[in-house]
Amino acid sequence: MRSTMTGTVQVIECPDSMRELVRAAQSNGRRVGLVPTMGALHEGHLSLVRASTTECDVTAVTIFVNPSQFGANEDLDQYPRSLENDLAALESLAVEWVFAPQTAQMYGPGFSTWISPPEIAATLEGESRPGHFRGVCTIVLKLFQILPADIVYFGQKDYQQSQVIRAMARDLDLPIEVSVQPTVRESDGLALSSRNQYLNGADRQRALGLSRALQAAAAAVADGERSPQAVEQLMLSELRNAGVDEVEYAAVADAQTLAPVQNIDRPCVALIAARVGQTRLIDNRLFE
Ligand code: PAF
Repeated sequence: MRSTMTGTVQVIECPDSMRELVRAAQSNGRRVGLVPTMGALHEGHLSLVRASTTECDVTAVTIFVNPSQFGANEDLDQYPRSLENDLAALESLAVEWVFAPQTAQMYGPGFSTWISPPEIAATLEGESRPGHFRGVCTIVLKLFQILPADIVYFGQKDYQQSQVIRAMARDLDLPIEVSVQPTVRESDGLALSSRNQYLNGADRQRALGLSRALQAAAAAVADGERSPQAVEQLMLSELRNAGVDEVEYAAVADAQTLAPVQNIDRPCVALIAARVGQTRLIDNRLFE
């Protein structure tokens, strides 16, 4: 099993070796931070890494494109893979360990145990991408077993995912703190995503429709709009104006449960999933 040093980062493939390193650090009183990723790292991931290196003594980043969270017609084969660049980016950030297993190490022969995701996974992404959260919960729980860290860092960009993981950690008494960090955006508002690499110039321009629709929604709520239907219509019309026609959802939901609300009279979140050209993008915004 490979375990190599590239510069200051140790790259580990073997789950048992990885677990031993984490346990040894913790038995020396060191707090371990975990940043799970599928690689193709961008500033959004690096902001999670920075949060971890600030709050923890040791940081582990996982890089694994998890096949079980992709649907049959999704972009598993095209998903960007750039391990060497990722390692170079992590070198400069005082990351100790990168856990980068092979698929066969995570899904060995006869693998057949799956997590049934919490209720909060049933809606939105759960409806648009059947089986997605089953794959996410299963791999994340496996990662928690291999890297029994003190804190795990997720991005608000995948809002529902972070709430699903929180619910799973609560329901299964997982001894890990889940920290959710703000979405990182380009200066024009586009939320950073590994899938932005797929966007050509015109599509990238249209993709701004998502953050603009969310911005318009937040402004309307700040101005006193309390009807979720009105805010959803506003987002749809902003998306249409930007040339984003294939909207999977543009919804307002309770920020805790993601259930629909009658009135925006509690912390709520607006969430959008849309296709821009061939690229599926998601974004969200909390109304405090
Ligand atoms: O957010 C992601 O990149 C993935 O869903 C995760 C959490 C690394 C699980 O594969």
